[in-house]
Amino acid sequence: MSKVYSAEEVAKHNKEGDLWVIIDAKVFDLSKFANLHPGGRTVLLDEDIAGKDATTAFFGLHRHEVLLIPRYARLQIGTLRGSKEQIMAPKPGDLSGVPYGEPTWMTPGFYSPYYKESHRKLQVFMRKFVEEIVMPDAQDREEDGKRPSSYVVEESAKCNLHAMRLGPGKHLKGLTLAGGIVTPEEFDYFHELIITQELCRIGFRGYSDGMQGGMVIGLPPVLNFGRPELKAKIVPEVLSGKKFICLAISEAFAGSDVAGLKCTATKTPDGKHFIVNGTKKWITNGHFSDYFTVACRTDKGLTVFLIERGEGVETKQIKTSYSSAAGTAFITFENVKVPVENMLGPENGGLLVVLSNFNHERWVIAGSSARTQRLIVEECLKWGHQRYVFGKSLLEQPVIRAKLSKMIARVEAIQGWLENITYQMCHMNYNEQSNKLAGQIAFFKMYCTQTAQLTAEDATQVCPRTGMGRVIEHYHRTVPFDALLGGAEDVLGDLGVRQAMRNIPKNTKL
Ligand SMILES: Cc1cc2nc3c(=O)[nH]c(=O)nc-3n(C[C@H](O)[C@H](O)[C@H](O)COP(=O)(O)OP(=O)(O)OC[C@H]3O[C@@H](n4cnc5c(N)ncnc54)[C@H](O)[C@@H]3O)c2cc1C
Ligand code: HEM
Repeated sequence: MSKVYSAEEVAKHNKEGDLWVIIDAKVFDLSKFANLHPGGRTVLLDEDIAGKDATTAFFGLHRHEVLLIPRYARLQIGTLRGSKEQIMAPKPGDLSGVPYGEPTWMTPGFYSPYYKESHRKLQVFMRKFVEEIVMPDAQDREEDGKRPSSYVVEESAKCNLHAMRLGPGKHLKGLTLAGGIVTPEEFDYFHELIITQELCRIGFRGYSDGMQGGMVIGLPPVLNFGRPELKAKIVPEVLSGKKFICLAISEAFAGSDVAGLKCTATKTPDGKHFIVNGTKKWITNGHFSDYFTVACRTDKGLTVFLIERGEGVETKQIKTSYSSAAGTAFITFENVKVPVENMLGPENGGLLVVLSNFNHERWVIAGSSARTQRLIVEECLKWGHQRYVFGKSLLEQPVIRAKLSKMIARVEAIQGWLENITYQMCHMNYNEQSNKLAGQIAFFKMYCTQTAQLTAEDATQVCPRTGMGRVIEHYHRTVPFDALLGGAEDVLGDLGVRQAMRNIPKNTKL
């Protein structure tokens, strides 16, 4: 592998069965691989490729990571005399050098009033964690459609990532967070935002949701409304990654219309149990969950229960546009006996329980959307820079630059708004957040998911392919979900305006 070849030597190997190429000063022997090449044998035998420097052609068709895959890296037999490798693979933890590839607070030479030393250290920790532990598994599981591997869940538990993903609060007390980078007392919404934004950089949406997406929305009702004995049992099991939980509100019958749910819970005559009957649909992680936080219709309203997998509970995987790694399920409850002690919040007071975590959930979804849009901007800038058509790079085409200008402006605007809302959250208690931020967060999530769809369309025009454009293709296919999750876009817009209407001073006139 350390052999050095001249261009003349390489040029002699230019035919079927004896085929070498140069890619970025590295010499590859493709003689045997040609028959296995996913792009076919003929392209490699082309007179401009076989025995020649194929760097430009290669990077116009492949992601750099192809050369890092061990079975392909082994094809390298040496290097080209007098040339130096130009393309540097990022090391785990590296920041992107592509303009707008990182939010300004992480870009050298820029400033921010929001982030302290512990935020910056957590970002570095998370970047390495995602690239070393999560990313390799995400790639494999996206291929085979299985749920995230247990070692990823265990490694996440070791640094208390599951607990941190629920945000600041009492559940962090006494825990060592990210090896001690941040104390439970100083952990705030900016720390949580960093975790959310670093995790979604993997670009595999189904896998991201498979990584305890259900816990992020299903455990808070237990933490906030469960009885102490129930919390003492469930919370440690879930935060240690030994058990899984999901939030089961939506049904085939009703999604936005929470009050219209049909799943019922009927109290037994002795008052000790409820009998649950009904179905739930689109439940993230439901297929592999041990616990279900379920909204049911009771005699005078809605009641939320913690239901354990057992007799009468069945889950079936639903096919969605993203990978089955998310474990999205259709659930049936048939005469499931649930102890009254498993009630979360008051009987018939379930609507409040359901609504209580919506602001947080929407802020998490919007924060992910903001960061994933940035990832798409970075992909498009890289692609536009390396793809040559009509003798020049795509970035030299004004029409491509016009698309990028809109994509970049949107992504910068939403990160700025996001950081403002996050700052308010850090300084407001729960009631203040509910009163003052429900509208802001609703509008913000609506705006994020609308801009996300525009960005998906623009990006698909810039890089409309699988393989090279796999991140963009995946994004375009899955981004419409965000408009629905945690409250449909239109419903949220309306909620924000209605909240504003309530607060217009009575004595105001034009
Ligand atoms: C991938 C995925 C994962 C999900 N994960 C979960 C989960 O883990 N747990 C869970 O409980 N649910 C989950 N859901 C369900 C999701 O919360 C619902 O899809 C969402 O609440 C919308 O409900 P619906 O699909 O029944 O749409 P509907 O309520 O039928 O609404 C359809 C459309 O009508 C419009 N609309 C309806 N009502 C109004 C109104 N009042 N004002 C203005 N416009 C309105 C909106 O445009 C809306 O998008 C998931 C969904 C998907 C796609
Ligand atoms: C070390 C050398 C090479 C390796 C390891 C390699 C590997 C691959 C792989 C893994 C793919 C599938 C990519 C995907 O779908 O993401 C692919 C596709 C392809 N390759 Fe290569 N390749 C090499 C060199 C070349 C060269 C020199 C050319 C020159 C033209 C070429 C042309 C193509 C084409 C046309 C495709 C199909 C692209 C598409 O469907 O979008 N490859 N190659």
